Amino acid sequence: MTHLRIQAVDDEASIHDWQYVHNVIIPGDVLSLDDVRARVARNRMEVAYLDDVLIGCTTVRPPTEDNGATATVIVRVLPGFRRRGLGTRLYERALAQAHALDAQVIESVVLASNPDGLRFAGRHGFVELERYLLREGDSVPWIDLRLDDPRGRVPAACQPE
Ligand SMILES: CC(C)(COP(=O)(O)OP(=O)(O)OC[C@H]1O[C@@H](n2cnc3c(N)ncnc32)[C@H](O)[C@@H]1OP(=O)(O)O)[C@@H](O)C(=O)NCCC(=O)NCCS
Repeated sequence: MTHLRIQAVDDEASIHDWQYVHNVIIPGDVLSLDDVRARVARNRMEVAYLDDVLIGCTTVRPPTEDNGATATVIVRVLPGFRRRGLGTRLYERALAQAHALDAQVIESVVLASNPDGLRFAGRHGFVELERYLLREGDSVPWIDLRLDDPRGRVPAACQPE
């Protein structure tokens, strides 16, 4: 039986693994190791392994007094490991971390070219807030989404009859 192991990004190996997952999934916004280190200082970030195989990563941007107590939760699962419930397990864990940080509003952000991410977010109760391009010349917008019920929603298919 395979075992899902999730650990904080807190050393060079986990920084490399988080960077790898991010850059495979978001090739239009490649991050350097220093970019990742800067994010680790601001955010709560984790990497996930099935046994010892890297499968995904998470980011929780913590709520602040300036942003209306909004946490941003982002889950990424490598393409070869999708549609077996791993994204949901990572999301539920990241959502619990955001609540533990006292977030009153939960947001996420998905690249418009990512149908898996948009469907996943919609199924978990996120609604679109706005679309925008990060840089001049970019063609694919980012979509900011907000959880309609900040406590989270179980996808309809998972609810008991
Ligand atoms: C969004 C993302 C994290 C989802 O990861 P995932 O591991 O595929 O997520 P899950 O397996 O939990 O759910 C995906 C689907 O697989 C289904 N599923 C779960 N377990 C399954 C199983 N054992 N067999 C078949 N299907 C299964 C789920 O019901 C869900 O179906 P739906 O699309 O009909 O709702 C992944 O697609 C991703 O990394 N996308 C790019 C990053 C991104 O956009 N992230 C933003 C989201 S915050």
